Amino acid sequence: MNSAKSSATNVLGHVTFLDGRGDLPMIEVITPWSTAEIYLHGAHVTHFKTNDGHPLLFLSQCSRFEEGQPIRGGIPIIFPWFGPREGLGQHGYARVKAWELKQFSIAPDGSVRVRFRLPDSPDAAKFPACTVEYVVTVSKVLTLELSVTNQSKEVFTYEDCLHTYFTVGNIKDVTVKGLKGASYLDKVDNMARKTETPDVIRIASEVDRTYLDTTSAVEIADAKLGRVIRVEKENSKSTVVWNPWIAKAQQMADYGDEEYHEMVCVESGNVGSNAIKLAPGATSMLKVTLDSSPLR
Ligand code: BG6
Repeated sequence: MNSAKSSATNVLGHVTFLDGRGDLPMIEVITPWSTAEIYLHGAHVTHFKTNDGHPLLFLSQCSRFEEGQPIRGGIPIIFPWFGPREGLGQHGYARVKAWELKQFSIAPDGSVRVRFRLPDSPDAAKFPACTVEYVVTVSKVLTLELSVTNQSKEVFTYEDCLHTYFTVGNIKDVTVKGLKGASYLDKVDNMARKTETPDVIRIASEVDRTYLDTTSAVEIADAKLGRVIRVEKENSKSTVVWNPWIAKAQQMADYGDEEYHEMVCVESGNVGSNAIKLAPGATSMLKVTLDSSPLR
């Protein structure tokens, strides 16, 4: 990755603190099996790669790396709302805040665990008081745990989503499996409610679908890169599949016109009618594990 490594501080040879792109603070993690990059801005994982593999995550060449702006690619954390919300912008505030690094630890086997906390802010003050933590574990696989604890005396209703951008060899050679029979809202067809009928999804036009009430793992088979990415999830009832295709790609300032060939978003969370209703004092954790293996 092309990170500006001007002020690197290396800890135990596994975790390095750097000035990343746009001079935003970034953590580089190296394990016996893999490497990862995580920005404090959005607690945003922008890169994960196993030693013998191709990078797992897509990151746009046109992404902004600026305070107050989301990073285009990697794993944006969507919280506490998904999509547009009147007067409040798109996809919540968590992805544009600098998260606090609370702790990191290195297990005897060499896997690295990094824990972040979302700081208080005027945006957060509009919602019930809560503690939001995010733990990234880098090993042979990438594990992400987003937990929310309701510190208020009222029920906290929120949406969450790990809006993961996967890199693919060529979108025309990709199938997405695991959503057959699931009901979805089709954003490119006026939010019409539909049911997924084929065994696999192929993408040959703009796709923006919110699958509801589905807890299944999803597999992205990529004939060009010769791999299958597996997205395992816990405590997630929604999956979003998104590719902007040609016209929308051209409209996005932070996304290359041709990049729709190279990525697909498969997002795991709880959105719309699957929003979490969290009782006072309760904690809810969304967990996602990303793994890849050779395509057979
Ligand atoms: C997806 C939404 O999750 O995110 C799409 O379903 C949206 O409708 C996409 O276009 C990207 O959103 P943003 O705010 O990062 O441009």
